[in-house]
Amino acid sequence: MTTLPPLYPTARLRRNRRFEWLRDLVAETSLSHKDLVWPLFVREKDAAPTVASMPGVRRYTLEELDEALTRARALGIRTVLLFPVIPPELRDEVGSESLKDSALVFKALARIKALAPDMGLMADLALDPYTSHGHDGLIKDGDVHNDSTTEVLAKVALMQAQAGADIIAPSDMMDGRVAAIRHLLDHNGHDQVGICSYAAKYCSALYGPFREILDSQGFLKGGHKKSYQMDPRNGAEAIREVAQDLHEGADSVIVKPGTLYLDIIHRVKETFQVPTFAYHVSGEYAMLKAAAATGFLDEKRTLLETLICFKRAGADAIITYSALEAAQWLNEV
Ligand code: PBG
Repeated sequence: MTTLPPLYPTARLRRNRRFEWLRDLVAETSLSHKDLVWPLFVREKDAAPTVASMPGVRRYTLEELDEALTRARALGIRTVLLFPVIPPELRDEVGSESLKDSALVFKALARIKALAPDMGLMADLALDPYTSHGHDGLIKDGDVHNDSTTEVLAKVALMQAQAGADIIAPSDMMDGRVAAIRHLLDHNGHDQVGICSYAAKYCSALYGPFREILDSQGFLKGGHKKSYQMDPRNGAEAIREVAQDLHEGADSVIVKPGTLYLDIIHRVKETFQVPTFAYHVSGEYAMLKAAAATGFLDEKRTLLETLICFKRAGADAIITYSALEAAQWLNEV
């Protein structure tokens, strides 16, 4: 600003807050159902449909997907992010189930594509649903081995694309996996399939409920993912992570978790001006549900405030387990 703005009492900032229509006119950000991505869990028939820490989230069988998509579509949700729940007996040290044509995730992707060809179909990509140790990759010498993991992930990504995924979302935090995935997709006729990289994914306590819904908590046996997920103390490092993934060909990036990492969302968006997704993770969902159930917080107001704050921080889109409730509430107003 070249001239100083007027001061009180000439300026009265409250004037713009007097009426709802005026508050709407001057609002700097907006939130709509079109901003939301709904994570969708698919399970085998004999697995339990729900878990305690994520009330309201269902693990769907292949047969139930139709009903799930119809419900989502009716509320204006147009994109889903798919996660498979793999039974313990199909897990092993190297996650071999992940490369089987018959694996649940490929059937689910094909089915969703057939049922809802107009919907956006994102596939989460990592090995933790498949490994008997619960880690996102292959273990060598006591740690997750980067390059052999990346090789497998690229193969799984290609199979996901072949099954109908529009966007692959690698959540494993290996170095170089975006390049490996991009390369394999491009050399197999899938140059239009996108990569939305979990680029700044922190090693967070807030993934607990997700690991319960994936049944992977027990497999991790108190282990942690600190050797590949980011240290919550670091911010500048997120910029390097995002830069690398963009350089390797990512079309969009995810910052995860959401609320505690709004500064990272902001820095990423300011620095790169690329499509940025916020992941409102399972622990955030669980905290809100618990507070709502006790009556300590108003779920609708708290949720909508959380989501609009992601937008204000710089997120273009938001992945949230509350997508259906949010869409319903947004459509009411
Ligand atoms: C694993 C994966 C995780 C989430 C998405 N993909 C958890 C983890 O890293 O252990 C977290 C989702 C959430 O908590 O909502 N590849």
